[in-house]
Amino acid sequence: MRIGIIGAGNIGGALARRLVGLGHEVRVSNSRAPETLQDLQRESGAVAVWAAEAAEAADVVVITIPLKNVPDLPADVLHRAKPDAAIIDTCNYYPKQRDGRIAAIEEGMPESVWVSRHVGRPVIKVFNMIGADGIEHQGKPPGTAGRYAIPVAGDDPSAKARVMALVDALGFDAVDAGPLKESWRQQPGTPVYGALRDADSVRRALAEASAVRPTGFRA
Ligand SMILES: NC(=O)c1ccc[n+]([C@@H]2O[C@H](COP(=O)([O-])OP(=O)(O)OC[C@H]3O[C@@H](n4cnc5c(N)ncnc54)[C@H](OP(=O)(O)O)[C@@H]3O)[C@@H](O)[C@H]2O)c1
Repeated sequence: MRIGIIGAGNIGGALARRLVGLGHEVRVSNSRAPETLQDLQRESGAVAVWAAEAAEAADVVVITIPLKNVPDLPADVLHRAKPDAAIIDTCNYYPKQRDGRIAAIEEGMPESVWVSRHVGRPVIKVFNMIGADGIEHQGKPPGTAGRYAIPVAGDDPSAKARVMALVDALGFDAVDAGPLKESWRQQPGTPVYGALRDADSVRRALAEASAVRPTGFRA
């Protein structure tokens, strides 16, 4: 597949390396010029491009930048993606440490619904609850006992199926976490967040999540 990554930090870099390793054609971008990503291009095999070019003819686009920077993305940043492209959102809201207060999220809007409204496309929430090191080093072949699982929330069945297949290829069981409006179940502070668990345990953790945002993750 052709995959565009917007954000080339911990998660963008880890995904670029892993996805090229799986044989995908990967383009990666940051907030600056492609020349600033020469090291990542060399070590990963992903092609460094401007953010505005990352989505070009992509089957999958990954948005993996600080949440507060999502409104800075150009309005047309996803226009060049294929019409049925799966748009992945890995972003988390860290009001105290990084993002400042975002009123709609403080008032209960799921973080990925907020992202989706800003980018003007449906998104799939995935890879937000696992660290970059986990993505890079904790994948296991299908059927391995205790294989770790990753929740995938979103509304479009075919985009979600494509993303779940990608999660499996990366070495993790993909757990359908329901529609985007339920994606608060995997936000920071929930039982599933930051813990590597198998698929049954992830399903239980999603079911046990509270819709009340913990104070540590409020502005
Ligand atoms: N770190 C983790 O383990 C982890 C795990 C799960 C989810 N997340 C979430 O995933 C997102 C990315 O996390 P990260 O740790 O990978 O972040 P990071 O290491 O701080 O990297 C952020 C990247 O986003 C780029 N960026 C910022 N604004 C941009 C813009 N307007 N257009 C294009 N690129 C832009 C930055 O480019 P410049 O270098 O040019 O500024 C940088 O490459 C965050 O929302 C985070 O909360 C992180």
